[in-house]
Amino acid sequence: MQQPFAWKDGQLHVDSIPLAEIAGAAGTPTYVYSATGIRAAFERLRAAFAELSPELHYAVKACPNLSICRLLHELGAGMDVVSGGEMERAWLAGTPMKDVVFAGVGKTEAEIRAALDGRHHLLGPAVAGTIDPAERGPVGLFNVESESELATFARLAEELGVTARVCLRVNPNVDAETHEYTTTGKNENKFGIEKTEIASLFDQFAGHPAIELVGLHVHIGSPVPRVEPYVDAVGVLLGLIDDLARRGHPVTLLNLGGGWPTAYRDGEVPPVESYARAVVPLLRDRARAGLQILLEPGRSIVAGNGLLLTRVVRVKRGRARTFVICDAGMHTLIRPALYRAFHFIWPVAWSGAAPDRVERPDVDALEPCDVVGPICETGDFLARDRPLPALEEGDLLAVFSAGAYGMSMASNYNDHGRPAEVLVEGDRSRLVNARQSLASHFAGEMAPRELALGERARV
Ligand code: LLP
Repeated sequence: MQQPFAWKDGQLHVDSIPLAEIAGAAGTPTYVYSATGIRAAFERLRAAFAELSPELHYAVKACPNLSICRLLHELGAGMDVVSGGEMERAWLAGTPMKDVVFAGVGKTEAEIRAALDGRHHLLGPAVAGTIDPAERGPVGLFNVESESELATFARLAEELGVTARVCLRVNPNVDAETHEYTTTGKNENKFGIEKTEIASLFDQFAGHPAIELVGLHVHIGSPVPRVEPYVDAVGVLLGLIDDLARRGHPVTLLNLGGGWPTAYRDGEVPPVESYARAVVPLLRDRARAGLQILLEPGRSIVAGNGLLLTRVVRVKRGRARTFVICDAGMHTLIRPALYRAFHFIWPVAWSGAAPDRVERPDVDALEPCDVVGPICETGDFLARDRPLPALEEGDLLAVFSAGAYGMSMASNYNDHGRPAEVLVEGDRSRLVNARQSLASHFAGEMAPRELALGERARV
């Protein structure tokens, strides 16, 4: 498949635009995405699972930028959201509420109310009056994670006079073989309902006037580097569906979550087609018989189609190693610090052959470097002990495969504004998120006021 980022004439380009020009116009650090690449990845996923005619709900958390959500909405994606904020984002991106799936292990009553009620938004006074939420309608589907949450849904839906369409999230106790922090389908994880409790919840809530239990949801982790855990999880879910049918609860919807990987290193993981080849045969007949399949992909659509552009601020040589100190760090891209995740890094200006995206590319005269940020922590690194061509202050570096869980996990630590975001399509580049100004970062702190004890907090 066509790579969205490639070196031409000694310069890294995104589509047909040199990244150095983007750095000049937008500054650094900046996340740069390829709309062409995102479209292609979405279509590739859709084609891989086409036999199941799945509904694809984009996992907004992977890369929430409104322009990217809009692009995916225009391609026919629904949105998978995990907070009131993401729900509002999906709405601002033009997604009808009926095409939103609301998941998350800690939905608050305020979030559940807004999602069920469908007549008001949570955007706050700044936009109140400028956007009319009337008739936006209730969220189409909820993934519910516990018995007590289901009881809350029943109470609030009854109170509002609506029906909540619900899938129960099953914890299948399957090991996704990924980082312990992003493993979600084992009994010791906080997610989902133990499989032994599912049937009794269906018994209990079948026929409830405000709850329509339509199906089951599962998400075992992210990224899932092998196919087998999905096969195991689907096996558990199909067993449950058969059991529920025997008890008089026909299940019409199965949501398989997300978790398909991206190749952070060349050749590291199976392509999405391998996952589809293993899973589709297990579900083909059921889908033909009317079982609606949902998928919630995030990373597999955006990770490889975004990179982080950063400038070298300082090079410190001659101690135990060389430190390449950049204007991006753990506050910009936390994945290396948090998960020891690998991101391939290479200079934007490079006249040699395109290097393999591996820890130690086969290129002459490389110098082992720690690529670090400006943050006052030793854990602030983008790469450790990484051979790189000789670098100088002012050089631009590209941190690859940063389109997912990059910007969405960025922070203001050490009082840095959050980075800019640029979306490129062909020869057109758009600033789709301005670099956060320090004024906006400080805004909430500028005018302290007495806390009105006894008054209710506004949510
Ligand atoms: N559905 C559910 C219920 C999820 O929890 C997630 C991701 C997804 C779908 C989307 O998964 P994807 O297709 O993007 O793999 N911050 C971590 C990843 C956390 C994933 C959280 N849940 C990272 O940077 O690797």
